[in-house]
Amino acid sequence: MTSETLETPSAQSGVEPDAAQQVLRRVFGYESFRGQQHDIVSQVIGGGDALVLMPTGGGKSLCYQIPALVRPGVGIVVSPLIALMQDQVDALNAVGVRAAFLNSTQFPDERRTVEAQLLAGELDLLYLAPERLRLESTMQLLDRAKIALFAIDEAHCVSQWGHDFRPEYLGLSVLHERWPTVPRIALTATATEKTAAEIAERLDLGAARHFVSSFDRPNIQYRIEPKNRGEQQLLGFISTEHAGDAGIVYCLSRNSVEKTAEFLSRNGVEAVPYHAGLDARTRATNQSRFLREDGLVVVATIAFGMGIDKPDVRFVAHLDLPKSVEGYYQETGRAGRDGAASTAWMVYGLNDVVQQRKMIDSSEGDAAHRRQLQLHLDAMLALCETVQCRRTQLLAYFGQQGQPCGNCDTCLNPPESWDGTVAAQKALSTVLRLKRERGQSFGAGHIVDILIGKSNPKVVQHKHTELKVFGVGAELRDVEWRGVIRQLLAQGLLAVHGDYGVLTLTEASEEVLFKGRTVALRREPERTTAAKAPRAKASRPVAADLAPADAGLFERLRAWRATTAKEQGVPAYVVFHDATLREIASRKPSTLSELGGISGIGENKLTKYGAGVLDTLAGEQGESAAEGSRARTGSSDGDSPRAADPVSPLPVRDEPRADAARQSGVTGQRPTSNPRAAASRDAGSPSRGAPASRGAAPARRQSSPARTPAAEPHPWNDEPPPDWDFEPPPDNMY
Ligand SMILES: Nc1ncnc2c1ncn2[C@@H]1O[C@H](COP(=O)(O)OP(=O)(O)OP(=O)(O)O)[C@@H](O)[C@H]1O
Ligand SMILES: [Mg+2]
Ligand SMILES: [Zn+2]
Repeated sequence: MTSETLETPSAQSGVEPDAAQQVLRRVFGYESFRGQQHDIVSQVIGGGDALVLMPTGGGKSLCYQIPALVRPGVGIVVSPLIALMQDQVDALNAVGVRAAFLNSTQFPDERRTVEAQLLAGELDLLYLAPERLRLESTMQLLDRAKIALFAIDEAHCVSQWGHDFRPEYLGLSVLHERWPTVPRIALTATATEKTAAEIAERLDLGAARHFVSSFDRPNIQYRIEPKNRGEQQLLGFISTEHAGDAGIVYCLSRNSVEKTAEFLSRNGVEAVPYHAGLDARTRATNQSRFLREDGLVVVATIAFGMGIDKPDVRFVAHLDLPKSVEGYYQETGRAGRDGAASTAWMVYGLNDVVQQRKMIDSSEGDAAHRRQLQLHLDAMLALCETVQCRRTQLLAYFGQQGQPCGNCDTCLNPPESWDGTVAAQKALSTVLRLKRERGQSFGAGHIVDILIGKSNPKVVQHKHTELKVFGVGAELRDVEWRGVIRQLLAQGLLAVHGDYGVLTLTEASEEVLFKGRTVALRREPERTTAAKAPRAKASRPVAADLAPADAGLFERLRAWRATTAKEQGVPAYVVFHDATLREIASRKPSTLSELGGISGIGENKLTKYGAGVLDTLAGEQGESAAEGSRARTGSSDGDSPRAADPVSPLPVRDEPRADAARQSGVTGQRPTSNPRAAASRDAGSPSRGAPASRGAAPARRQSSPARTPAAEPHPWNDEPPPDWDFEPPPDNMY
């Protein structure tokens, strides 16, 4: 392949498929690039730098994987997620890409094997944590290899004010100094232009082309409800709308993570905790269970989730207010990566505002830092209190336009806004009088009691019944006053201070009290019920109803997939996504070449799994595979088959399976002149196992989930693996 053809791929598009297009089809089994993928890939193949902002699940990985396969040399992927590298590499090996990683979970001889492969030019992609990349010994190793590109994944980790800051990322600008001619591509799902500018500056990506995708995730339904009994509300939400679904619940503190996970488990929702205070082995086991099992809920702090590419997470719930819209959007974005209907659900109340404002007050760092935190929180509060479409507001935050979406709580069940000026004046003057007349400050609860005229021991003790404002707000109920105060705090018309969260006035409160400033407040609509909030629209037909006979077939394919995944020690979605199985079930291909036409089936998967799929379709081994799986796991894929309809008889295959595949050209010599791709095919031959991760070494670090029998013996049985270069983000602040 000449450099000319590589450098002008976009000029050829539409006429004949370019090298990138060929790799997309042949290796990954996808028909066409999504959104800006093609432009990004062309930029990097041509040797240019790129900064890619694309939402979670948008398809960033292909943007560096395909250039790494097309350009000569190995693509070096910098990723903070050593706990997920094995899965990422497994997924690539499954499509025949020669990928490997170097990290502390490996034995020295495993690392030596990978290093040898690297130097022999036998790798297409190598994953490294930034800590390891920055070691001089690693740099010297890379000096001896041919490097196709550097991909800096999760690039927002370089942002010091961001929610995932990793100091080691700051050192990555050295890449450009040491390897000035190697293209670099930085990718993130964090969307603001400000973060993009910060990434460009800190990574020395001044000349990079910026690619900003639409951040809309139409299949996710956004809902924010007032919090009263958070755990009960969560349980109600899960059991009425997402029973049996996989989901993530975010809590602020480790303690509430543990409590919530226990609470859900006690109430019939299988849930595991995840936070940075758990030992590494428990964390790894719980994460691995979440990825491998169906329908498990993980309750976590923000230490969990980055890089999790499980496609069928059906809901993300927040029991506490996130600190920023960026954080919220990344966390909620982990739902529905497969494009099927999903829910982002949150409860939020007065205490959240008080707690977060207090946390900022007492946070370390200078005034500028606190100001930054304050701005982040204000934007988050504005989202919570809006009477407009949540999606429009989210997109506007990221500088993008949107129409009222019809798929968020404010669109489905619009809240009213009311003139809260008088109510605000009553609340503010209560705070004012306590200060002026008594020299006292109190928290929200006490202020509300004074407003509604409720006598509590503190009221009696301080003779607050004698205040002129005592009982002045009897027209609103306790919870309504809490809503008013919450919104005043959110709008900056009240402030909160000190350990006890006492309320104080701000400059803006004086405008309301003395200068005629009006205050618009939000009236909570009746709770959005499942009936009022229909399941979100799917952008891709993965959730489309299958005909009954096809549904039975789909379940048999899932059972086959469960067995296969377990045998290979990988998550089920590494074998095939649900979307691919659904398409197989409805199209019922009878030959390998027909099967190869289905999205998500490239050459390697066709060779590896084609026969098994056709057998399952024909029903020959289908029954036994299903039974085998049930016998082993007690269910298919971890839950029971959704339909048991008999499968309609299928046409008999018109060619012998495996041999035909080898001869037909479908999986024979690839129609490409890319020698590396050909080498990749050979090295990645499934029967020989993946090159790097399962070669000579006792490769897999696999935790043994409690519900699934341990698939294979591994070296970590008695001892947790060393974990030195994985530092989960500190969450002890929470
Ligand atoms: N052109 C395409 N056609 C079909 N499917 C695609 C295409 N590009 C990507 N996908 C699929 O979309 C899913 C998400 O892709 P990917 O993992 O790259 O997301 P991401 O942008 O890196 O998200 P995150 O921010 O969570 O890391 C994957 O399952 C991938 O196989
Ligand atoms: Mg990614
Ligand atoms: Zn909306």
